[in-house]
Amino acid sequence: MSDFVRLTKQGDITVITIDNPPVNALSPGVPEGIVAAVEQIQNEQSVKAAVLIGAGRTFVAGADIKEFVKLTSGQRGDDIGILPQLLKIEDSGKPIVVAIHGNALGGGLEVAQACHYRVAAVDARVGQPEVNLGIIPGAGGTQRLPRLVGVERAIDMCATGKPLKATEAAQFGLIDRTIEGDLLAGAVAFAREVAGKPIPKTRERRDKLGTPEQNAPIFAAARENARKKYRNQICQLAAIDAIEAATRLPFEEGCEEERRLFDKCLYSNQSKAQIHIFFAEREVPKIPDIPKETPIIPVNSVAIVGAGTMGGGIAMVCANTGVPVILKDTDQAALDHGIGTIKKNYDISVKRGRFTQDYVDERMKLIRPTLSYDDFAGADMVIEAVFETMPLKKQVFGELDRVCKKGAILSSNTSTLNIDEIAATTSRPESVIGMHFFSPANVMRLLEIVRGRRTSQDVIATCMQLAKKLGKAGVLVGNCRGFVGNRMFLPYIREAQFLVEEGAAPEAVDKALVDWGLAMGPLAVGDLGGLDVAYRIRKEYRHLEKPGARQPFLEDRLVEMGRLGQKMGAGWYKYDAERRASSDPEVPALVKKWVGEWGIAQRQISSDEIVERAIYSLVNEGARILEEGYALRAGDIDTIYVNGYGFPAYRGGPMWYADTVGLKKVYERVAEFHRQHGVLWEPAPLLKELASSGGTFVNFQRVAAQATD
Ligand code: CAA
Ligand code: NAI
Repeated sequence: MSDFVRLTKQGDITVITIDNPPVNALSPGVPEGIVAAVEQIQNEQSVKAAVLIGAGRTFVAGADIKEFVKLTSGQRGDDIGILPQLLKIEDSGKPIVVAIHGNALGGGLEVAQACHYRVAAVDARVGQPEVNLGIIPGAGGTQRLPRLVGVERAIDMCATGKPLKATEAAQFGLIDRTIEGDLLAGAVAFAREVAGKPIPKTRERRDKLGTPEQNAPIFAAARENARKKYRNQICQLAAIDAIEAATRLPFEEGCEEERRLFDKCLYSNQSKAQIHIFFAEREVPKIPDIPKETPIIPVNSVAIVGAGTMGGGIAMVCANTGVPVILKDTDQAALDHGIGTIKKNYDISVKRGRFTQDYVDERMKLIRPTLSYDDFAGADMVIEAVFETMPLKKQVFGELDRVCKKGAILSSNTSTLNIDEIAATTSRPESVIGMHFFSPANVMRLLEIVRGRRTSQDVIATCMQLAKKLGKAGVLVGNCRGFVGNRMFLPYIREAQFLVEEGAAPEAVDKALVDWGLAMGPLAVGDLGGLDVAYRIRKEYRHLEKPGARQPFLEDRLVEMGRLGQKMGAGWYKYDAERRASSDPEVPALVKKWVGEWGIAQRQISSDEIVERAIYSLVNEGARILEEGYALRAGDIDTIYVNGYGFPAYRGGPMWYADTVGLKKVYERVAEFHRQHGVLWEPAPLLKELASSGGTFVNFQRVAAQATD
């Protein structure tokens, strides 16, 4: 039949199995194989209907995304669209029943829409997630989906990219039957029920497409919402336009419009950036010196030291995945406070409809508070999240070394301290590792996994796998000050302060970067986390700064007068009781006075300069990190920034973005800033080298092993 598609018989029903591991993507040969199978059954008298099913863990997860990269990079120029193949399936004279397990995503769901009936395992998921790649459905999905589920639901699915559970999809008419137990047996039985009946074709339906009068307000609201929610992005609006075409045009013309919009999105920088992030995230777990077969340490229980902001959030992350947690603090009041905060956070989730009360009750049962280390003896893994001071961390790790069983993983959530120094206080540094969660830990996807000099391969491999289980993007980083994310963030927030010192209003700095695509501006981020946090770090590490380097001073002054940010109701902005920010006229007055005392000349600063100085400060530090080996790949840095720092995926992360601007141009600007602003802007050697050789960060390969300190 084809390398990817095989046929078997169950009496009068033919089973067409797609087998293209790992996710049955529609690689070249798969759609053709399905069509050949459909054509074959037309001539077989004994066959009444067919079931189309996926082998392995899932139905079809979509088009083969690697083929898109080949197209946009010019490696292939032919048409890889599958619309004609789907028409042939839809025109089959015998009914085709799709049986979905795992996921039917993107092109996979489009294949299913072209079939005549869809049945699914109860835990299957269906969706059009193309916007996560910066594109829209390109195989008729924007035309057939509204015919099946109605305009409003189709917009929701295509513009948010969120998949539906099969049970939900059944309520909207996308799935004809959900099947408990044996999916194939259920699908074959269903096929026998529908064999011989008139064959429904999705493309011929118009009953759910609505009238222009009904649709106009739906499209207007959807566009307004997309412009607000997906600032600067083109694919969500394109998806809405394509669905509108479905309501206005005959099917074939609607498909042509979809194709035009699909191409516009696919060849945009936004889509290239998002596809880069898709593959970068999947590259991250691959560690060159850690073989795939490295043994994994079973982690069936976790003990957490410190029930504060981070410890509580991490306890929720573990409980949400069904891992029992022991949560320790020093006294009953701190423990009660920690458990109370966890309950409060879960209550909010219940109110917002994210979790049911039963679910939360089950999670709470998994979290066991304690005041004693005695309970740690059986834990497979410990995550320490006490206050950020080295003597305290050393004391805690000394205790852990005493009470924990041999082989238990001992990890620290430290954001600034040296993992090797912590490990050295134990008799088993090979078991010690950094697990740097981001706040709020139960929300933020990023997890930096910090490799110490002596951390064992088993421990690293286990933590990388655990990250995935916990739903995190776990990125392995080396043990340098600030690791990767915060090491880059420091020059970035420093630059934001310099811009204010030189004459930009705080609001102008934040607005330029938010308009550019960041989730929040750097000064507002400072207020959110507390300006005292960076203040303490600046004071502690000032002796390590380059001699003669310019030091920011505005934030220090704000902190010293008690303006610590949101928690005090005042920082760069002022905050009301609901922590809503507004401009504070006191701030520009203070800034004017302070910069006057300092004698800094004031000037107009354009939003372009704000963006260049802020983003290139990230890029320049990222280049050093890459060259020094604290990050394995540029894509690892990009994954960190997109998942932990609100960097827009459609710009691909700081390193990808620099590549798209062109490293020669970035280098020239950095060199210019170096001349203007001094030693802090000294261009990273790697940036200089790649700029002159015409290279890119994304293709840069380090030969040496990952640095650890
Ligand atoms: N194309 C090519 N490769 C894919 C792929 C796809 N659509 N989906 C997954 N893969 C690859 C991954 O790169 C990974 O490869 P490696 O093992 O070599 O790293 C492997 O399959 C396993 O993927 P995950 O690690 O992500 O596995 P998972 O079990 O955690 O998740 C999944 C499975 C939910 C299907 C997830 O892979 C996913 O979301 N895939 C993308 C789905 C998607 O976006 N589909 C739409 C594609 S665009 C489209 O279809 C356009 C159209 O209209 C025709
Ligand atoms: P926190 O102050 O909210 O909580 C610390 C908790 O540890 C308190 O409940 C305290 O009573 C408890 N504690 C102190 N000594 C203890 C001991 N000997 N045994 C048991 N419990 C003890 O602090 P937070 O913010 O949760 O930070 C914890 C760690 O996480 C720090 O290392 C910090 O650098 C790191 N971190 C913090 C982030 C943040 O945004 N808050 C982000 C990422 C990491």
